[in-house]
Amino acid sequence: MKNNKFGPTGWTPEQLGSLAGKTYVITGATAGAGFEATRILLSKGARVVMLNRNAEKSAAAINALKQEYGSDAAVTFIRMDLAVLESVREAAAEALETVARIDGLICNAAIAQVAKQEITVDGFESQLGVNHFAHFLLCRLLFQRIEESKGRIVVVGSNAYKMGLKKIQFDDLNFDKKYSAWNAYAQSKLAQMMFAYELQRRIQASGKQVVVQVCHPGASRTNLLQDTASAFNKVLWSVLSRFIAQSAERGSWPEVMCAADERVESQSLYGPTKRADTVGPVGKCQLDEVALDRDMAAQLWTVSEEKTSTSWEL
Ligand SMILES: NC(=O)c1ccc[n+]([C@@H]2O[C@H](COP(=O)([O-])OP(=O)(O)OC[C@H]3O[C@@H](n4cnc5c(N)ncnc54)[C@H](OP(=O)(O)O)[C@@H]3O)[C@@H](O)[C@H]2O)c1
Repeated sequence: MKNNKFGPTGWTPEQLGSLAGKTYVITGATAGAGFEATRILLSKGARVVMLNRNAEKSAAAINALKQEYGSDAAVTFIRMDLAVLESVREAAAEALETVARIDGLICNAAIAQVAKQEITVDGFESQLGVNHFAHFLLCRLLFQRIEESKGRIVVVGSNAYKMGLKKIQFDDLNFDKKYSAWNAYAQSKLAQMMFAYELQRRIQASGKQVVVQVCHPGASRTNLLQDTASAFNKVLWSVLSRFIAQSAERGSWPEVMCAADERVESQSLYGPTKRADTVGPVGKCQLDEVALDRDMAAQLWTVSEEKTSTSWEL
């Protein structure tokens, strides 16, 4: 890529110095990009607290990480199911009790292309609930600790934000009228990104210090569609991904960069920059202006406060 400030090969983990003394909290680190991001952060000497829904998978992930980095590797997990707001509240309370500083909160976990409409216990279309509303609440509950730590929030988006309906369907958030797995996923990722840019603006207006960054992993070979997508989409992706996708490890680089590199800029989107931003050198990607729509973002903020029964004044 021309003009990539991270050099011709784009950003790589080798460009990052020691992260000793830093603590990162990451959602969905049992597998995929979240697991790989955790590996890189640990390799740089950071402490990582994973917020995962599955205790068994978490134990297996921690076991694998300790085998690689030694039994002293500073990696632990707190159980949190993003599909249940009460679980998010409990996990946030435990994190506030046990994690003294948060240098970065990485909102990585997601579900995608859920084949048939599913509604969470809190009444949300599952992708909007898990990917956006739960992360909104988590960011709100941990914000003060992140602020005290002069830390960052990283939102992991997706190129899908500019491919679905390109709007938040406020009059039918749950797609009750006509459910589409793709449009509902796209809406949830647009919501996450819109929220991140709105949070950046509100932080700037309030004079607070927290840095918010937005990235995406391009097309990466992970488990993302395994539990949720239709049988057809699963088969299609398992074949296609062999040719068009990159490794989960490379998919994790943008989130690690956004969490820890000093050179990232606000109101940007970072990810791979080749083949329509799906693979290749990590750098700044073209940002579709829909993600910066201030009216929609303000409305989304109010709706998110209502749906998560919280208020968030900065
Ligand atoms: N892979 C791609 O090509 C691609 C493209 C665009 C964007 N992304 C984004 O990249 C991020 C990482 O995804 P990935 O591809 O690495 O997927 P992945 O391999 O499926 O990993 C997703 C992680 O999220 C966790 N998770 C799912 N539902 C959860 C819940 N209710 N509560 C807590 N954790 C939950 C999973 O936990 P379990 O192990 O318990 O299932 C897993 O740890 C996501 O934000 C995704 O939208 C990926």
